[in-house]
Amino acid sequence: MHLDPEDERILAGEAGETRQKMLELLVALGRVFGAERLVPIKSAQVSGASYKTIGKYGLDWLASLDAKAVVPAVLNPIGMARTRWEEMGIDPGFAKNQQAVVAAYERLGIRLDCTCTPYYLYETRYGDHLAWSESSAVSYANSVIGARTNREGGPGALAAAIIGKTPCYGLHLDTKRVPQMVIEVHADTSRWGVADYGALGYHVGKLVGNRIPYFRGIKPDTDQLKAIGAAMAATGAVALYHVEGVTPEAQKNRYDLSGLETISVEQAEISRLFTQIPVDAVALGCPHCSPAELAEIARLLTGKIVTKPLYVFASEGVINKNTRIVDTIEKSGARVFADTCMVVSPVMEQYPSIMVNSGKALAYVPNMCGGQARIGTIEDCIQVATE
Ligand code: F3S
Repeated sequence: MHLDPEDERILAGEAGETRQKMLELLVALGRVFGAERLVPIKSAQVSGASYKTIGKYGLDWLASLDAKAVVPAVLNPIGMARTRWEEMGIDPGFAKNQQAVVAAYERLGIRLDCTCTPYYLYETRYGDHLAWSESSAVSYANSVIGARTNREGGPGALAAAIIGKTPCYGLHLDTKRVPQMVIEVHADTSRWGVADYGALGYHVGKLVGNRIPYFRGIKPDTDQLKAIGAAMAATGAVALYHVEGVTPEAQKNRYDLSGLETISVEQAEISRLFTQIPVDAVALGCPHCSPAELAEIARLLTGKIVTKPLYVFASEGVINKNTRIVDTIEKSGARVFADTCMVVSPVMEQYPSIMVNSGKALAYVPNMCGGQARIGTIEDCIQVATE
């Protein structure tokens, strides 16, 4: 693997022990995956941020490191809203440990935006090389923006943030970004919303595993693309997909699809995911809400009062730029929280059954929160929360 003189200097320990260890980790990863070189990155997004997922050992490891990120780097959602954790009913012991994790990352120069939607906060462009961790963010970066990132583990993304480079293999290479199967959707998608596309992703992720699908027969907007990708990354391991005539690489390239396995998806396969189980709480914002999604929730809640707990999750940056909209949502009794989400926070564990409008949350809530999950359109979610 080619390393430049600066890399050799870091590997020799001349830039400190943490940078040496971080580069050793990247070189080891590169060797395992056959990378010929490291590639400079524009930004990093680091998972392993919730105390619920990393625990004491993760915190001790972070606290032992001593270096600074050299590229813009943002944290994944943590286990609670940093400033409103008491309002979420978070246990003070958990909050103390979570604050220690956040402080450790801050010391390493990681920005505390705590979001799975860094693309709403930092400019990310077609062709940019990145080292992002969270699966829905990785899918969005690769598929919707046309940037290039593998799905990094937390330590790999942190190492890339501190070194400013990542091993150049997998989705950083043109040859690894071509479609591997075709998904033909046979449904009238003209009235589909985010939840329908999330359900499509939930269904298709189980069929494709880690292959790169090429969709035909759908015309999703960016929020709907976000929903498909998040769900496919949850039920499968899809880090890149293409949509004919929609996503940038599908528009730019003429792929040879002949000979690829083709799977048809019918409306009935999507409709059967929309069950009618009773729910105790409603959670929206997986992945974190865009400004348009927040506005839609506010519109649907105007003049209503919630009768069930309704949680909405978004990044602090998006919340701060949309305070009037957030005020409208909270006037209904719903709560809009930054920094965290329905899966990585313990807050949803108190509810046996949760309604969501996300295919990813439909997959993760039963495993991570212990309860049942029901998917519904945004209109149905608001209806159930206010009936
Ligand atoms: Fe984001 Fe949490 Fe969903 S990290 S994609 S809101 S599970």
